[in-house]
Amino acid sequence: MAQIEINGISKIYTIGDLRINAVDNVSLKIGKGEFLSIVGHSGSGKTTLISIIGGIMRPTSGTVLYEGSDISCLDDERLSEYRNRKIGFMFQFASLLPILNAKENVLLPCIFNANGRLYNDKKAEEYLDMVGIGDKINAYPSQLSGGQQRRVAIARALMNNPEVILADEPTGDLDEETEAEIMELFKRLNRGKKVTFIFITHNLELAGQAQRQLRMSHGAIKEI
Ligand SMILES: Nc1ncnc2c1ncn2[C@@H]1O[C@H](COP(=O)(O)OP(=O)(O)O)[C@@H](O)[C@H]1O
Ligand SMILES: [Mg+2]
Repeated sequence: MAQIEINGISKIYTIGDLRINAVDNVSLKIGKGEFLSIVGHSGSGKTTLISIIGGIMRPTSGTVLYEGSDISCLDDERLSEYRNRKIGFMFQFASLLPILNAKENVLLPCIFNANGRLYNDKKAEEYLDMVGIGDKINAYPSQLSGGQQRRVAIARALMNNPEVILADEPTGDLDEETEAEIMELFKRLNRGKKVTFIFITHNLELAGQAQRQLRMSHGAIKEI
């Protein structure tokens, strides 16, 4: 059974009379532990697609199965539980809270975790150490480089032990060298095949390092 199975999903945004077909009848199967990249022009529907996979957004039609169960018919509470338990997100910018230090930023998902998982200080420190900034646990975002902030965001995405990491242009604003380092870190985290990685990138060379590559165009998807 696929870990994630998307069947004919479409997403139509309506703004007044305007209808935008952001995702257009996409079907896809993703196995546990896959390392998958998505490329495509701006506006091709990449962010919308992974938002639907991650349960941030509901499709207009079609179904998303996670380990065989349909997440599209979950109520809001169950859907956020799915998100908290299964998915780790990384967005285009590190989006750390400036008033919290590195460790506190990593602990943020635990605060919002509705299912009572414990706030685990030690685990936050372990993850920061694992992503190579164990010496920066008390530093504030303004005291960290772009690459270091990105590492904090990775540690934060890992905090709830997600089964899937969805990364939306996670290295877009970094220099090439730092980008390559972050990519190496992703590959290392994927090595045991316990965590599935789906990452969107503009960088074709990085995309080419993924085990499986997809391209989106006008809401449709195809394998490269
Ligand atoms: N919340 C929204 N409301 C209306 N239109 C949107 C919204 N989000 C995205 N769109 C439109 O949907 C299309 C796909 O957007 P998006 O998924 O962000 O693409 P990408 O991530 O590939 O740049 C674009 O035409 C975009 O303008
Ligand atoms: Mg986008």
